[in-house]
Amino acid sequence: MKKLIAPSILSADFTCLEKEIKAVEAAGADYIHIDIMDGHFVPNITVGTQIVAAARRCTKLPLDVHLMIENPDCYIDDFITAGSSVLTVHPEVCYHLQRTLKLIKDKGARPAVALNPATPLCTLEHILPDVEMILIMTVNPGFGGQKFIPAMLQKLRQLKEMLDSAGVTVPIEVDGGIVVDNIADVSRAGGDIFVSGSGIFKTADYAQTIAEMKKRIAS
Ligand code: DX5
Ligand code: ZN
Repeated sequence: MKKLIAPSILSADFTCLEKEIKAVEAAGADYIHIDIMDGHFVPNITVGTQIVAAARRCTKLPLDVHLMIENPDCYIDDFITAGSSVLTVHPEVCYHLQRTLKLIKDKGARPAVALNPATPLCTLEHILPDVEMILIMTVNPGFGGQKFIPAMLQKLRQLKEMLDSAGVTVPIEVDGGIVVDNIADVSRAGGDIFVSGSGIFKTADYAQTIAEMKKRIAS
């Protein structure tokens, strides 16, 4: 499976968001990851559909929108209309996960599921036919710049095994604490798409950082 880099704009400079998005696009980013937080599911509030729509106007890259919000069903239509390409929801706040995934698909985006570090992989067992990407959180969601939780490497290996034995080939995205120094280990454990916020936006040269990440996940 192709290995991809998805910079999270949570760590970008919001005073010049267009410039930041264009800079990571030019630097080799494959997706733009946008973190939506509601102050309920996670202890932080970020941005909404207006920023997704603004991002849609300044890049051709797919928009990978990570909903860390309660009642996601109420907002799916709006986030897809705003330009989300992939829409990720958390089963911890979805009463009817399969219905939510189907709704995302029917509205024209790619449905994805994100698991918090403590949420078991068996949560995915019965919805695999409805999911086009699985996101393993490698920090507890809410903030950029946190440290990668090492126990998540084992979770990634187990997910890979679970998908292989079910004959399912959906990409595994990894989010939280991904930096140049750990990306090779995360890739070997099963990661395909690597979200990185501070690991890219807090470095001086985005192109050099993304090139180094790509080199390390290719080897
Ligand atoms: C965390 C968010 C992440 C965050 C990652 O709750 O889901 O996407 O931006 O930031 P870093 O890469 O700095 O851990
Ligand atoms: Zn995220």
